[in-house]
Amino acid sequence: MSAHGETTTRSEREAEEAVRRELAEWYRAGKPPWDNGTTPPELVAAVTGDAAPTPGRALELGCGTGTNAVYLARHGWDVVGVDLIDDAVRQARAKAEAAGVGVRLLCGDASRLDDLDVPGPFGLFFDLSCYCGIPHHRRDAYAVGLTRRAAPGARLLMFGYGPEAFPDQISGVTADELRTRFTGWELLDVTPGTNPFPTFWFTLRRTP
Ligand SMILES: C[S@@+](CC[C@H](N)C(=O)[O-])C[C@H]1O[C@@H](n2cnc3c(N)ncnc32)[C@H](O)[C@@H]1O
Repeated sequence: MSAHGETTTRSEREAEEAVRRELAEWYRAGKPPWDNGTTPPELVAAVTGDAAPTPGRALELGCGTGTNAVYLARHGWDVVGVDLIDDAVRQARAKAEAAGVGVRLLCGDASRLDDLDVPGPFGLFFDLSCYCGIPHHRRDAYAVGLTRRAAPGARLLMFGYGPEAFPDQISGVTADELRTRFTGWELLDVTPGTNPFPTFWFTLRRTP
């Protein structure tokens, strides 16, 4: 049992460690394929479109090298970015500094936000392929962590792969899973991505 009273089995710990090792290796090897320095149009629309909320606090889960955290900060958001891999966080800090924006960038686990100093409340959560790669036994904790930190009416914009996209036992997310796991949230929209394999943009709203 951990200091937080978590009970994890050996195979669960091994699954977490395998994910962490794989991610760390991507960053150690250079530029991971997802790190293209471009903010996705779906986030641009959420932040600048007609229905865009007034900027407030935003939390990016799995911020990588900080492209989107910096984008949000440039659009007036007070941003915290969290990533599991310290190489990514180091690069994100350098990117924010070069851009001249103040973003809090923390190395930590998006499913263990209580270990980090991120009290919220947040009006916007952004997750680009972080949740869909988190081992299933940590996903309830991820959802609870966001729910506790969500301002009334907060939005969660999430991009994720369908479970068919990768032949492993971990990756993938479905609309049904999010409806079940995110108690107190409403799944407002599911839009298929444009990738050659199943991907989705999910928009959820914390119900008041
Ligand atoms: C597909 S990448 C996207 C990175 C970044 N958002 C971007 O658009 O370039 C997903 C990121 O989630 C991070 N990640 C995966 N599991 C995580 C976890 N449990 N907690 C925090 N970050 C995690 C990975 O290290 C990786 O940087």
